[in-house]
Order: sequence, then C-alpha cells, then structure tokens
Amino acid sequence: MTHEELCALAREAAKQAYCPYSRCTVGAALLTADGRVYTGCNIENAAYGATVCAERVAVFKAVSDGCREFAALAVAGGRDGNLSGLYPPCGTCRQVLREFCPPTMPVLLVTGESTCQETTLGELLPLSFGPEQVN
Ligand code: THU
Repeated sequence: MTHEELCALAREAAKQAYCPYSRCTVGAALLTADGRVYTGCNIENAAYGATVCAERVAVFKAVSDGCREFAALAVAGGRDGNLSGLYPPCGTCRQVLREFCPPTMPVLLVTGESTCQETTLGELLPLSFGPEQVN
C-alpha cells in the first residue's frame, strides 16, 4: 500500500461523511501493521457533542475488529465535499491514536487530489501521555 493509495482511500471515505451541521466532510484511512486498511468518516449528531470524528471511527473499527497495531494514517477533509483544505486530527483523535500508534507513525494530511503533507503522530502530539504512564 503506497502513501498515495492510502490518501485515495481517505478521500473515498470522506464521501460517506454524515455532516449536515458543519458541512465539513472528513475521511480517514488507517493502515494496519499487517496491511489491512480501516476507513472512517465523521458522523455528526443533532446533539453536537455526540459527533464522532473520522479518525476515531477508523481506529474504533480496527480495534473492535481485533487490530491494535498501525503503520500509517491518511486524513482528507473539506467543505461540502470539496476535499482541498488541510484537516489535521483534533486533539481528542490525536490522544486516541496515541494509545495504539507509535510516535514515528506517518500521518498523511491530504491537501489536494494527489498531494499531501506528511507528518508523524509524535509531531502532532509531543510530550504525550500514554499507556506507559499508567502501566
Ligand atoms: N472532524 C473530524 O472528522 N476529524 C477531526 O479530527 C476534526 C473534526 C469533524 C467533526 C465534525 O463533524 C466536523 O469535522 C467539524 O468539526
């Protein structure tokens, strides 16, 4: 699975976004250590606080399927289905990713049809609190 392919899957996943309130369509594609991909989209709710982000949907789908090791994440987002802007994961999603993913894990922020900005989970969430602090 190339980075380009993972970004394309994130763009595809954004098409399923349920976002009547913000009109922000977000898609995530999470590559597992053994080569599978779990996708997610944001799912909003009339009680706004019950909204779930695309990244967490992807992580929760994977973990509930028994997968806890990940190799890369791609995120695509935009307004009204126009996937052109930068949509970095929110703080809560970064913390949820931190539970299962190494700080070196590449995070690909889709910026256009075939462009992305590459960072890592450690760059997105430095000096983080994780399972080591608790165990
Ligand atoms: N959103 C995500 O899906 N991922 C993030 O990391 C940031 C925000 C969604 C949630 C909501 O449906 C919309 O973007 C606006 O906040």
